[in-house]
Amino acid sequence: MSKELIVSKIENGTVIDHIPAGRALMVLRVLGITGREGLRIALVMNVDSRKLGKKDIVKIEGRELTPEEVNIISAVAPTATINIVKNFEVIKKFKVSPPEVIRGRFKCRNPMCITNAPREPVVPTFYLVKREPPLFVCAYCGRYHELSDLI
Ligand code: CTP
Repeated sequence: MSKELIVSKIENGTVIDHIPAGRALMVLRVLGITGREGLRIALVMNVDSRKLGKKDIVKIEGRELTPEEVNIISAVAPTATINIVKNFEVIKKFKVSPPEVIRGRFKCRNPMCITNAPREPVVPTFYLVKREPPLFVCAYCGRYHELSDLI
């Protein structure tokens, strides 16, 4: 028997599904979405999931997120599936994976790193060195960071 949807389907946009239960707000924060952009967003938290037991879902109307934009959420939602919806149909589906390179979003945790020096026009850059669990290295000072350290 099909159960009723808690939130209706969207016409165009992105559905982030299979988020670990309770992490939907963190996902929005990591994506830098505050709600003040005027996008129509639906959050569903702690609903039943066959794969995860319980899960969260985020539906963003009118914005198609790219893998580059969403891969960063793998730090807080490694199980997430991204669904791109057009005319009510899922036209693309992919799983998040740690990004190969992160530029300009996070600060290096090494206070002596050149990227933390005042008035240095250096963009913090981190390269993925290991996938499981994800480990990044600062391109400037060589300090290793887990994704959760950066966020
Ligand atoms: N969805 C939506 N609006 C649409 C189409 C899909 O909000 N127009 C949502 C569904 O509610 C679901 C997710 O997008 O949360 C994925 O949809 P779909 O691929 O149809 O579902 P499943 O086959 O169950 O997905 P999966 O195999 O990834 O579990």
